[in-house]
Amino acid sequence: MSILEVNNVNKNFGGLKALNNVNLQVDAGTVHAIIGPNGAGKSTLLNCFVGRLEPDTGSVTFDGQSLLGIKPFQINQLGVSRVFQTPEIFGALTLIENVMIPAFAKRDGAFHMESWRSVASEGDLHAQAMEMLSDVGLDAKAEELAGQLSRGDKRRLELAMCLVQNPKLLLLDEPTAGMSRGDTNNTIDLMKRIAQRGVTMVVIEHDMHVVFSLAEKISVLAQGTVIVEDVPEKIKGDPRVQDAYLGGAHL
Ligand SMILES: Nc1ncnc2c1ncn2[C@@H]1O[C@H](COP(=O)(O)OP(=O)(O)O)[C@@H](O)[C@H]1O
Ligand SMILES: [Mg+2]
Repeated sequence: MSILEVNNVNKNFGGLKALNNVNLQVDAGTVHAIIGPNGAGKSTLLNCFVGRLEPDTGSVTFDGQSLLGIKPFQINQLGVSRVFQTPEIFGALTLIENVMIPAFAKRDGAFHMESWRSVASEGDLHAQAMEMLSDVGLDAKAEELAGQLSRGDKRRLELAMCLVQNPKLLLLDEPTAGMSRGDTNNTIDLMKRIAQRGVTMVVIEHDMHVVFSLAEKISVLAQGTVIVEDVPEKIKGDPRVQDAYLGGAHL
């Protein structure tokens, strides 16, 4: 059964067709990777799932409900969380505070800074946030400022900020970008643990080691169109995929 259904989505930026009749079905409880060369439209597509962009035409349905025309925080409250391509964390706050904010937002809706004082004193949310930090291996740094973290740790913090929302669907835009091989492998293990809990994941990823370690289904996007969708074993040798990358990636 598919949890996310994308039908004939088109998105133009001026004269540029960023998405051209995109169709995608993500089965509940699976890890679905979206790969493709730079500029293929991967981030644009993800933005259409979280309400940051509205498709010009087409439909996006999550759990039987249309995601079009509703606000990002409402989509988030339906159970969709996202790790952005560029980490979006609060650098001047501690790690534990960073993780408490999305927990609060999921429960109470759009976050307002003036409510911060009441959030910070909520024991339940604090305990949940702490659990998530230990999940991603950052519990020892809970009271440090997020802005001082390494790039890999910032990404892990972002994952904790998503997980604390107990999402049904987790969207990850290049989760291992800029990470060392060691950090990448830790992230793969972490994502495997998340998948085992039944969380559906859509992951955009350049690193083929990550893609083939995690994905059960792969959609290949090129110039705004899904050119192939298949299981990893079939994608590896597909000449259309090799062509799309023009030797830019090693499959
Ligand atoms: N907000 C925008 N305005 C204009 N063009 C954009 C915008 N966002 C993306 N694009 C263009 O759309 C195409 C797809 O971009 P993107 O979705 O970021 O690709 P990917 O994530 O696959 O690298 C690119 O040509 C990019 O320059
Ligand atoms: Mg991108």
